[in-house]
Amino acid sequence: MSERAIGVFDSGVGGLTVLKEMVRLLPGEELVYLGDTARVPYGTKSPRTVLRYALEAAAFLVEQRVKMLVVACNTASSVALTELEERFSLPVVGVIEPGARKAVAVTRNRRVGVIGTEGTIASGAYTRAIQALNPSVEVFSAPCPLFVPLAEEGWAEHPVAVLTAREYLAPLMENGIDTLVLGCTHYPLLKNTLRLVLGDGVALVDSAEETSRTVEGMLNGRKLPRQSLPGQTRFFVTDIPTRFVRVGGAFLGHSLQGVTQVSLD
Ligand code: DGL
Repeated sequence: MSERAIGVFDSGVGGLTVLKEMVRLLPGEELVYLGDTARVPYGTKSPRTVLRYALEAAAFLVEQRVKMLVVACNTASSVALTELEERFSLPVVGVIEPGARKAVAVTRNRRVGVIGTEGTIASGAYTRAIQALNPSVEVFSAPCPLFVPLAEEGWAEHPVAVLTAREYLAPLMENGIDTLVLGCTHYPLLKNTLRLVLGDGVALVDSAEETSRTVEGMLNGRKLPRQSLPGQTRFFVTDIPTRFVRVGGAFLGHSLQGVTQVSLD
C-alpha cells in the first residue's frame, strides 16, 4: 500500500503550488497530478457544479489506485471535502483545515484575513474552520479573483498586481489584521507583492506549505510513507496540454514532461 502514489487534483495549473511543496517535503513519494483544465476556473462556479467536478476528478485518481487524495484546489476543498471523505474509502486531505490551523497558531491580535476565489469566500469554509479552532478569532475575508489571471500571465510582481492588491487588501488592513491566509492555489506566487502592500506587520499563511505538512503527518500516522527513493510525478489534464505545460513550468520553476490528456465525463 505505501508504495502507491498520492493523488493530487486541482482545477488547472494552480495546484502545482501544492505539488511543489509536496515534492520538496516528501521527495520519496510518487505523485499523480490531475488538472481539470477543460473546466477551469472553479472559483466562479456554483458549489453544485464544483462538487460534481471534484467527485469526477477524485474518481479518476482513485482508479489510478492512489493511497491518498489531496484536494489542492481551495474552491473544491471548500465545497466538496465532506462529500469526498464520505464517498471514497481513502484518506482525503484538503487545503482549508491546514491553513486555518496555522492562522490560529500565528495570529496575536486574533484578527485574521482570508483571501480566495469568489466561491471559496462565499462558502465561508475558512471562517468556519478558523472559528471552530478558536471562536474568539475574528475573520475578515475578501475575494481576489484578478490574482488568478495575473499569476498565470506571469504578472505576479507587475505594477498592475501591486495596484490590484492595494485595492483588494485595503478593507482587510483597515480591520487591523495581523495574519493573512492565502486561500487560493495561485496566491503563493504573489507573496512578494502582498508583502510589499501589507508591510512586515502581517504574517502570510501559505495553505500549500501547511497542506504538505499535513500530508506528511497523515502518511506517518498511517504508516504509509513510501520507502524507496526518489518518487516521480505523472501529470494528467482534461484539455490539450500546451498551456498547462507552459504556465505550469513557470509555476514549478522547471519544465513539465509526460503530460497526458484524459476525459473525466
Ligand atoms: N484552484 C483554484 C483555487 O484554489 C483557483 C483557480 C480556479 O478558480 O479554478 O481556488
